Amino acid sequence: MEFPEIARTAARAGATVLIVPSCTDDRQGFLRVRYCAHARAIENQMFVIQSSTVGSLPMVPAVSLNYGQASILTPSDFAFSRDGILAEGIPNQETMVIGELNLKLIAEQRASGTVLPLLDSQKTSQLLADVDLVSVTPSEERYLVRKTETKDFEAIVALCRDVYPDSPSWSPVQLKSHQEVFPEGQMVVEERETGRVVGFAASLIIDRDDYDWATPWRIFTDNGMFTNHDPEKGKTLYGAEIMVHPDSQGTGAGTELYRARENLAKRLGLKRIRAGARLRGYHQHHATMSADDYVRAVERKKIWDPTLSFQLNRGFSVVRVVSGYLNHDPESMGYAAVIEWKNPEMKK
Ligand SMILES: CC(C)(COP(=O)(O)OP(=O)(O)OC[C@H]1O[C@@H](n2cnc3c(N)ncnc32)[C@H](O)[C@@H]1OP(=O)(O)O)[C@@H](O)C(=O)NCCC(=O)NCCS
Repeated sequence: MEFPEIARTAARAGATVLIVPSCTDDRQGFLRVRYCAHARAIENQMFVIQSSTVGSLPMVPAVSLNYGQASILTPSDFAFSRDGILAEGIPNQETMVIGELNLKLIAEQRASGTVLPLLDSQKTSQLLADVDLVSVTPSEERYLVRKTETKDFEAIVALCRDVYPDSPSWSPVQLKSHQEVFPEGQMVVEERETGRVVGFAASLIIDRDDYDWATPWRIFTDNGMFTNHDPEKGKTLYGAEIMVHPDSQGTGAGTELYRARENLAKRLGLKRIRAGARLRGYHQHHATMSADDYVRAVERKKIWDPTLSFQLNRGFSVVRVVSGYLNHDPESMGYAAVIEWKNPEMKK
């Protein structure tokens, strides 16, 4: 019963009734057989008669306890009983079940039923021949996150152009400055197999009290130079940039970068990671809703935003919605959600 190939072979050879004697000692075992019996009745468009042992024979160890219920099961289609059960007995009582098996109906339904699983199953092997089975490598095995090195600058600039074709890329001068002020905060994610840099993240430490909620990105990053990095007073890791090449998005590279950032915040004893999440999908909704309402809808999963939804799923929460964050960004129209991840190790 639990090996579908056998019943299918019999059905293809013309079998219309499958008789299943079964012996199970508990309800779970019985249901395993029963559910499989339903499946065989449906996929092969046949009657299945399950006859199971009930009662107890204490002197025979193999059948000292039995759990069972007799039944006659049918395909699940209009021509048959409404719930696919033609007749069934009472669980754990010796019962005889009686039902009329219309074998002509089986033949008809196999040719013209609502669904034709037996007939259509002939195409299964052809279908499988055209299917590519993809094995998914866990992202931590596929990707390596490491500190940015000078040799990566060229790849980062190319990456910026591919992710934001209409905006100026980070310049090698800025990247050098990041490396000088805070080398540990600069990371690239590399595909282990090819050595290709597929994403990068840039961060600095700030003292949250030095900045207003509405502070634009260029002030938080000192015009992209990070020279305001403040490891003495600061307890906040500020995420100034994170990006993954479009060809590699959705394969876990971004998650690895976020994980590496969390580990950095923990290692340095920082209280939080803060970032401005530009509202990438807002331009599609701004005619009908405010940025605040848009963010609430994203939080409630009514709208999916390509950036904010991802960040909320990584454990960040929204603390404020601001305007004028990235003024030249047509997608967010300058709106951003100030988001924070709290270091659980610093709560105590
Ligand atoms: C935001 C961004 C960095 C996310 O990076 P990413 O590499 O696509 O992120 P991931 O692949 O780790 O995760 C994306 C989704 O794919 C899923 N995913 C991860 N690995 C996967 C895999 N192997 N197979 C299928 N799905 C996978 C993740 O679970 C996630 O979905 P979820 O949020 O519903 O959980 C990336 O989209 C990007 O660079 N965007 C443009 C730049 C940008 O907006 N940056 C942020 C500025 S504020």
